Amino acid sequence: MFDLLTPAQQDPILSLTVAFREDPREQKVDLGIGVYRDNNGQTPIMQAVRKAQIQLAETQESKSYVGLAGSEPFNQAITDLLLKGTDGYSRCATVQTPGASGALRMLADLMYVAKPQTTVWISDPSYVNHKPVMEAAGLKVRFYPYFDRQTKTVNIDAMLKTLSEAGQDDVVLLHGCCHNPTGADIRPEHWQAITEMALKQGFTPFVDIAYQGFGDGIEEDAYGVRLLADNVEELLISTSCSKNFGLYRERTGAAIVVSKNLETAQNAKGRILTLARATYTMPPDHGAAIVEKVLTQPELTQIWRQELDDMNARILGLREGLSAALKARCGDDRFEFIKEHKGMFSVLGMETAQINRLRDEFGIYAIGDSRINIAGLAESNIDYLADALIAVS
Ligand SMILES: Cc1ncc(COP(=O)(O)O)c(C=O)c1O
Repeated sequence: MFDLLTPAQQDPILSLTVAFREDPREQKVDLGIGVYRDNNGQTPIMQAVRKAQIQLAETQESKSYVGLAGSEPFNQAITDLLLKGTDGYSRCATVQTPGASGALRMLADLMYVAKPQTTVWISDPSYVNHKPVMEAAGLKVRFYPYFDRQTKTVNIDAMLKTLSEAGQDDVVLLHGCCHNPTGADIRPEHWQAITEMALKQGFTPFVDIAYQGFGDGIEEDAYGVRLLADNVEELLISTSCSKNFGLYRERTGAAIVVSKNLETAQNAKGRILTLARATYTMPPDHGAAIVEKVLTQPELTQIWRQELDDMNARILGLREGLSAALKARCGDDRFEFIKEHKGMFSVLGMETAQINRLRDEFGIYAIGDSRINIAGLAESNIDYLADALIAVS
């Protein structure tokens, strides 16, 4: 059966992690894989998560199945975090999924069941998995321009011009905040323009929000998704607890469908459950049980929010430190965008040859499209990175 198979293509990000680990040099910096790291290079378990985990170990009495939609109290808490107070809140339905990855796939499968001719528009560039997941579900994919490599900001005019071609058979996938890979985010007034365009053209927005709380704050980062939920009839949302709860390996996320009314939203949820039944059946429980505890106990919620703010402050400090170090070396503002970008990532706009030089000559590992994970830096190696970036520029 397997004789005709050729070796699978290696995942570019995971293979970079292996190459970094095997690099014998003492001075090396891993800016590849998208996980938060503290100043010691560790991806810590958050205190609120640790406390919830202890509570769970002491009180959980069964490991029996939970249900196709996962934990309903978790679903409620996640929906509250994203949509409470919006018009869409009363006409939505939520399913717990194995990470936002699971949500992306379940929503893609749902789109295919509901409307097989759907085309999904994805930002150029986008999270590496967006295209393969949509295509694996049988959907067509097109790209809209997003990142201006000169200004390192969102090219909103080009984006809107292209999206004016999208119509009723189209779904437009947007990053809720902290765009992966570029770090360049849509500004509030531009969310307004996108919402108006969705209403005019009739396309369905799909917001993937994997970094709520890593941009300007929990509430601020939900601005775009809430604006859409207030104004459009149908909206798809995938959300992740990997980054903002640090629950990467626990595979915790959710798919939310906002629809015309509660009945149609529940119908969509029912379809997702049928699709999930034929895929992984049920999402893993542990991460969701932790999030449920954190979000339903005010003292744990407060600890979690503070920790998230602290993580954010560290990233912001690194962004400011790196752009200042670069300005001191090059004497101009060409790296100012690093402190304007949001979340963990920035695309530097460098060529592959420059990224290869960073790795070969300096032991600095960045993704081929010149994405760096700012959270992979320590204060102590800002100067080293700045020197290297200037050397290869
Ligand atoms: C934009 C985006 N969506 C979804 C995901 C998937 O996250 P999860 O770990 O929840 O599957 C990621 C992870 O990096 C991401 O960056």
